[in-house]
Amino acid sequence: MPKITFIEHNGAEHTVDAEVGTSVMETAMRNDVAGIVAECGGGCTCATCLVHVDEKWYPVVGQPSADEAYMIDGAFEITATSRLACQITVTDELDGLVVRTPAYQGR
Ligand code: FES
Repeated sequence: MPKITFIEHNGAEHTVDAEVGTSVMETAMRNDVAGIVAECGGGCTCATCLVHVDEKWYPVVGQPSADEAYMIDGAFEITATSRLACQITVTDELDGLVVRTPAYQGR
């Protein structure tokens, strides 16, 4: 089972098991990771699941679709490696993935 590490804006780290075929957002919600709100439930319409993918991992995760990129453009605190966690599907290839959550989504 792949492991994903979420790093909150305050530096708190959570390394959790992720089920292949689910999304990184679902993985965060199931493990009560602070900083992922996911208001639209994964519909790519709210951008409250924004994460910053670790630079080393960005080429593996890949770039967002046009619809996702449009939503990211309207979000706060974006970086060159920002993605919507609901649009990243967990695969075995993502074992060890590291993503950071922005401050403004914190609960
Ligand atoms: Fe709404 Fe990801 S959960 S865009």
